[in-house]
Amino acid sequence: MPKETILVVDDERLVRWSLQQKLEQWGYHVSLAEDGATALGRIQLDNPDLITLDVKLPDMSGIEVLSEMRNRNLKIPVIVITAFGVVDDAVRSLKLGAYDFIEKPINFEKLENAVYNALETKRLRSEVARTQEIQRSEFSVDRINGVSDYIWDLRDLIRKVAASEASTILILGESGTGKDLAAHAIHYESSRRDRPFYAINCAAIPESLMESELFGHEKGAFTDARTQKKGMFEIADGGSLFLDEISEMTLGMQAKLLRILEGQPFRRVGGVKNISVDVRVIVASNRNLEEAVRASTFRQDLYFRLAIIPVHLKPLREHKEDIPTLLAGFIQHYNQKFRKNIQSFTKEAEELLTHYDWPGNIRELKNAIERVMILADGNRISGKHLPIRISEQGRPPVPANEEDLNGEIQLPPGGFSLYNIEKELIRQALEQARGNKTTAARLLRITRDTLRYKVRKYKLE
Ligand SMILES: Nc1ncnc2c1ncn2[C@@H]1O[C@H](COP(=O)(O)OP(=O)(O)OP(=O)(O)O)[C@@H](O)[C@H]1O
Ligand SMILES: [Mg+2]
Repeated sequence: MPKETILVVDDERLVRWSLQQKLEQWGYHVSLAEDGATALGRIQLDNPDLITLDVKLPDMSGIEVLSEMRNRNLKIPVIVITAFGVVDDAVRSLKLGAYDFIEKPINFEKLENAVYNALETKRLRSEVARTQEIQRSEFSVDRINGVSDYIWDLRDLIRKVAASEASTILILGESGTGKDLAAHAIHYESSRRDRPFYAINCAAIPESLMESELFGHEKGAFTDARTQKKGMFEIADGGSLFLDEISEMTLGMQAKLLRILEGQPFRRVGGVKNISVDVRVIVASNRNLEEAVRASTFRQDLYFRLAIIPVHLKPLREHKEDIPTLLAGFIQHYNQKFRKNIQSFTKEAEELLTHYDWPGNIRELKNAIERVMILADGNRISGKHLPIRISEQGRPPVPANEEDLNGEIQLPPGGFSLYNIEKELIRQALEQARGNKTTAARLLRITRDTLRYKVRKYKLE
């Protein structure tokens, strides 16, 4: 780690000298200033990690230096050095954001501690800021990749919803369409971004624990409740709570959730105190909630409450024009992750990927690309690298039944050998299926056994 720089501001040469000796001895790099103006200049030049600041300076007071730093929005920890017993200066400097104060004559042991603590706090702060920065960019709405109108509208909607006052948001979409991504983006685009984001999968938590998970419990509320525990609603205060697979929540819990969404306070399990929080609840489901309402497994009033702001995510098969862009994004992602240098997919491979139906949506696409990129060794990926299900189903569709062939097959006036036609079609089917008999049989709508028989008959082995 590079040495941290400490700026020593004092008008007395001897004090500057002795502070410099000590600080250098403790392993810091020291820069010096003898008055306020010089100090402000050095702050710009040296960008110190910490400042020790004498209150009594020839040109301005240390207090004025502090307020000037505040005006310029300079967030450097300052340890103020005051005359013994001048409590006033100490209080005023702490109010102006000084980290600590030390009285003269300087007790070096105290100073060493104060310096250490101030720098440690600064390190932790910048660590937290860095993690927040990473999370913010990882979950920013710009991670939602795509060029279709649908994706443009989606990014817009998420920004709007995030900036709104809405306390509940419903995200609907098949598995793998990006509900998690959308929920994170809503949180990290909102003014709540520096507050917690918590996610709970309602399908994964047993009914008996759900209530205490969400609302917390008091010590002794039930057999296993050995200590008091805060629930998700409490610890997410000021932030967002993501309730995934909401359709799996029991009717009893749905009633409790509805009360909170209506702004009523709650109690911890076994508690008597009413608790109120400010939490944005983002809810997601891959099931059709209207159907669940009809089947009486989901409360209608809760559904209406949630459905005020719905975000619908489309299945990938309905926005296939995004596949090339998504593909490029995933190639870049996995090139970095696996330190590969895959440049592109062949035209054929891209076509297969576009024709395939993607029942698992964007997640399936992402996983397929991951797998292919792990296995690939060249820098170009072709159709034969793709999983079988994709290369089979990804072929341009064959007519579903014989009626579809009306008009497409024309017997020439002089007739034609049915034997030769059958033989040629089987040869083509085998070629298209790259020798895979199951696939070839499916293409010809015959059983594998029939195909095997015909392959032998026409000597196509
Ligand atoms: N538009 C997109 N651009 C880039 N990556 C995406 C996009 N949509 C989804 N993904 C990625 O696809 C994967 C699946 O998305 P996500 O987990 O958000 O789906 P989901 O709807 O929550 O799925 P499930 O219902 O199974 O929980 C994730 O890795 C996500 O980052
Ligand atoms: Mg999910």
